[in-house]
Amino acid sequence: MTKVALITGITGQDGSYLTELLLSKDYEVHGLIRRSSTFNTDRIDHIYEDPHKIGTQIFLHYGDLNDGGQLSNLIYNIKPDEIYHLAAQSHVRVSFDMPEYTGDITAIGTTRLLEAIRRSGIKTKFYQASSSEMFGDAPPPQNENTLFKPRSPYACAKVYAYWMVRNYREGYNLFACNGILFNHESPRRGETFVTRKITRGIAKILTNKQDKLYLGNLEAKRDWGYAPEYVEAMYLMLQQDSPDDYVIGLGETHSVKEFLEEAFAYVNLDWKDYVKIDERYFRPTEVELLLADSTKARKELKWQPKVNFKDLVKIMVDADMELAGLLPIGEGQKIFKTKGIDWTENRMTK
Ligand code: NAP
Ligand code: GDD
Repeated sequence: MTKVALITGITGQDGSYLTELLLSKDYEVHGLIRRSSTFNTDRIDHIYEDPHKIGTQIFLHYGDLNDGGQLSNLIYNIKPDEIYHLAAQSHVRVSFDMPEYTGDITAIGTTRLLEAIRRSGIKTKFYQASSSEMFGDAPPPQNENTLFKPRSPYACAKVYAYWMVRNYREGYNLFACNGILFNHESPRRGETFVTRKITRGIAKILTNKQDKLYLGNLEAKRDWGYAPEYVEAMYLMLQQDSPDDYVIGLGETHSVKEFLEEAFAYVNLDWKDYVKIDERYFRPTEVELLLADSTKARKELKWQPKVNFKDLVKIMVDADMELAGLLPIGEGQKIFKTKGIDWTENRMTK
């Protein structure tokens, strides 16, 4: 029997990788997308198929987390076996500018979905995209028993959603899991998150489109992993016999400064020649140190990530170089020389 999944946030970084994973397992995948005046499906265009085509396994539906009626309607009509709830106002800095909106979408949006499931009476499994940001300034390493001390409107909204999921699990016997994921990045990472901002900035510097990179707090430390490996953990959670909450992260922490050092050194540049500090990227309250203890997930889900911090930096720099037209030396491929730097040659010597 083909399993049916509904993904909210299918157009986001994680949604796109999860869709690829589920299609590879022969799922029928339904995704919630927002109406926009420009196309917002870049990350899934390569897997999307015309719904008129016979045998299509991916379907997109308009909706929004602020529209409970449409969420109910979709759940009732699609009758998914599994729901992966990834949609959110996911930017921490932006949540300080838009705390009310963040609460409505990231917190109450989850309640709207949970209520839609409960009222439909449909038996489905539910994944909630909880976040390591919920730990705030709780001392590291952080695991499933660590107290939440949220330090942003985004984190507060996620803590509320986390507890709603637990309440629906306990109160209504819903198979609902919280995946408490630490930062995970990829070439598909949104351009305003710090890792992608850095790797994209390097490509722009090398192609003379930018000569400075403006950043905020370089001292904050994050446990950064590779997104495609993290969506596997989401899938695994919903394949267990009973619902539970799991921390997912590498167990390796690095500062933003270390990311800069690693990424710029990879293309033989010194980050100090390019990076400037701009106060506007600082947050009123910051999460200084995140470090995952994912012992439970490694043991129970057999989740085993392979890409470490250094690999991740290389994957992201390589991808942004390629996007900018800077390709590795090879037959028929372009070689770019910018500012006297031949990135392709530099890379070959690394
Ligand atoms: P992302 O790239 O920012 O994607 C967010 C998705 O949510 C997009 O598809 C977006 O649609 C959709 N969305 C936003 N507001 C919506 C609304 N009002 N109604 C319907 N859809 C809406 O985020 P991500 O990195 O893939 O993260 C996925 C989830 O995991 C998020 O909930 C995030 O908070 C959480 N999380 C992420 C990380 C991480 O490091 N990536 C770690 C822990 C938890 P558009 O494309 O139209 O904007
Ligand atoms: N975005 C951004 N832009 N962050 C910067 C900058 C900058 O110019 N300069 C320094 N930083 C610092 C931030 O202050 C923060 O300490 C760190 O870089 C990481 O910021 P982000 O990449 O924006 O990620 P985040 O950790 O705040 O949030 C991400 O991870 C959470 C999981 O812990 C998001 O993906 C959240 O949705 C997710 O829940």
